[in-house]
Amino acid sequence: MPKARPKPRATKLKDALSKLLTEQQKYKKKQAAVAAASQPPKPNFSTAAAPKHFKRPYTGLDRILLVGEGNFSFARALVEHVPGTGEGLVATCFDSEGVLIQKYESEPSANIAVIEAVGGTVLYEVDATKLEKCKAIKGKRFDKIVFNFPHAGAGIKDQDRNILTNQSLLLSFLTSSLPFLSSPTHHPLTDKQHGEIHITLKSGTPYDLWNVRQLAKQTGVLAAKTAFPFEPAAYPGYEHRRTLGFKEGMSRGGNEEIEDKKPKTYVFVSKEAVGEEVEKVREGMKRKRKDARAERSGARAGRKGKRRGEKDGERNDDSE
Ligand SMILES: C[S@@+](CC[C@H](N)C(=O)[O-])C[C@H]1O[C@@H](n2cnc3c(N)ncnc32)[C@H](O)[C@@H]1O
Repeated sequence: MPKARPKPRATKLKDALSKLLTEQQKYKKKQAAVAAASQPPKPNFSTAAAPKHFKRPYTGLDRILLVGEGNFSFARALVEHVPGTGEGLVATCFDSEGVLIQKYESEPSANIAVIEAVGGTVLYEVDATKLEKCKAIKGKRFDKIVFNFPHAGAGIKDQDRNILTNQSLLLSFLTSSLPFLSSPTHHPLTDKQHGEIHITLKSGTPYDLWNVRQLAKQTGVLAAKTAFPFEPAAYPGYEHRRTLGFKEGMSRGGNEEIEDKKPKTYVFVSKEAVGEEVEKVREGMKRKRKDARAERSGARAGRKGKRRGEKDGERNDDSE
């Protein structure tokens, strides 16, 4: 048997160098995570506090997929402020890591370090309109799939064309999300709740003209469940970012882009889920009516019994 030829010295050196670099990268990431985690969360730039009655629509039990993240500050706010969020979170952005850094400078890396430190997953180059192409989430299902402030960012000046481009983005996102929605009907052993798609949009023109509810209806499968105001203050540290990027001194900082736009989160679920929900309410009402009937007839029987008792009493009195 011929002996395996020893690796040439240059190859050995290359291997050792790349190993060293990987180790160094890992170390740097760890250091960044430690540094970011020890920083107090950034103040929320919104001057308004979230209303007391506002309840964040996410819990630590939810398996959450975020698409179209900007600087990953929303994902970071979730892991820092929704107890239990970590391993169940997959946060994704459309851009490559390099483009992200060009657009948002050092912001994403600090946020990503915190997300990864608690077991969350961060993925780059995920097209929300072609989720089926993302190998890392193949076969997974989520309780909440969230796209905050979707925008194609194509810089189209013509309003009609701009609306159409963004509608196409939204419709493709909705359709592409469907196989990833959890469903206790189809997966009773693993899925506890019917998955929801959350889309947050600014209000007013042109966003209202995107007609997101109509787009969901167009899928033939989804129905609108509810809508509520998006409260940036409920996500300390979250800073909205534009598709085109953020440049210190040039872009509007904090959440100025959305503060005066009355943003709203629209929630969509499968029609099947709505059907089951309606059926549950119907069953509940039926049960209540039955209980009320039983109570009424019980009360009637009680009154009759009392009257009979009184008569018997009278008779008893007689017998004494
Ligand atoms: C206005 S920014 C909002 C960013 C972030 N969600 C936030 O709230 O700050 C719109 C985002 O949509 C993303 N986007 C546009 N087309 C996309 C697509 N096909 N798939 C995923 N993300 C997309 C952009 O990359 C950008 O990050």
